[in-house]
Amino acid sequence: MVVLGIESSCDETAAAVVRDGQVMLSNVIASQVDVHAQYGGVVPEVASRKHIEAIAPVIVQALGDARLTLAEIEGIAVTRGPGLIGSLLVGLSAAKAIAFARRIPLVGVNHLEGHVAAIFLTDTQPPFPFVALVVSGGHTTIYLVEGFQRFVVLGRTRDDAAGEAFDKAAKLLELGYPGGVVIDRLAKQGNRDAFPFPRGMRDSVDFSFSGLKTSLLMRLRKRGSPFTAEELPDVVASYQEAIVDVLVEKTLRSAARNSISRVVICGGVAANSRLRERFRNDASRSGIDIFIPPPSLCTDNAAMIAVMGGHLLQGGQSDGFDLNAVSRWPLVC
Ligand code: KG4
Ligand code: ZN
Repeated sequence: MVVLGIESSCDETAAAVVRDGQVMLSNVIASQVDVHAQYGGVVPEVASRKHIEAIAPVIVQALGDARLTLAEIEGIAVTRGPGLIGSLLVGLSAAKAIAFARRIPLVGVNHLEGHVAAIFLTDTQPPFPFVALVVSGGHTTIYLVEGFQRFVVLGRTRDDAAGEAFDKAAKLLELGYPGGVVIDRLAKQGNRDAFPFPRGMRDSVDFSFSGLKTSLLMRLRKRGSPFTAEELPDVVASYQEAIVDVLVEKTLRSAARNSISRVVICGGVAANSRLRERFRNDASRSGIDIFIPPPSLCTDNAAMIAVMGGHLLQGGQSDGFDLNAVSRWPLVC
């Protein structure tokens, strides 16, 4: 089955064509990063307008890259939530229009489930059950994944998401937006042990990142002046290590406790080079196999939506034209 996936939950307008839930024929992403960077974060109203401008050209390019016409598409998968309602509605409207005009099935996909499904686009795919860490700008949750749409929450953040911890630190340090990529790059030149940042909730497999962010803010206030260009790499390397430490340690601990030897890492923060390195090193020591999609399939994309949607459509699930966007949609209620 050839599925067109559409994703517009935040600030990326994306479309992709995937065959049989695992062969990626195209994957197009129009980023709005430059527009939102001047405001230091995503402005929902601006995001919706930019999605409207980008959605048709992005879909046309996804079809062109796949060397297919709309007539050859057999199903449409679209992100229904969670995300910004105004942004989601742009993708949903485009998806409905195509499904209606072409009389092909339409299915709404959970963005978080899409992040997990990205692993099925890679060469080495884990069999169920596995543990998945979904770590993005809005979510930081450890799941036991027993099958498609069968999730058990093992641990979750009690406050900020890890991506937020990256983005807020970058803002405090005036490093620009989005923060994760900038910190990842700058940290490579820094000393990870230079500053003792706190690791929250050591004894639990839940996360807390607000204390870490406050600790950085307090350090800045105490100094009374910004960090120098020489100090910054050490600051961000130490800060990043505090985030990576708890993500790696708690995820591997959750897997071991549940006697699971396969762990999937996904979501935008899974693009972080230190996190990828640490998971691979620490897991091999504990006999756990780590599965991480390439960075381009960790950050928001439509191929992951097409994979998940393809699976639902092939299983006979589809939605009507009354399908609506939802801002909150936990995988486990
Ligand atoms: O999954 P995603 O693209 O969008 C959401 O669903 O939220 O994740 C975006 C988050 C942002 O917080 C961004 O700073 C973070 O992922 N991120 C990174 C890196 N690339 C993106 N964080 C750390 N290191 C990176 N290389
Ligand atoms: Zn995402």
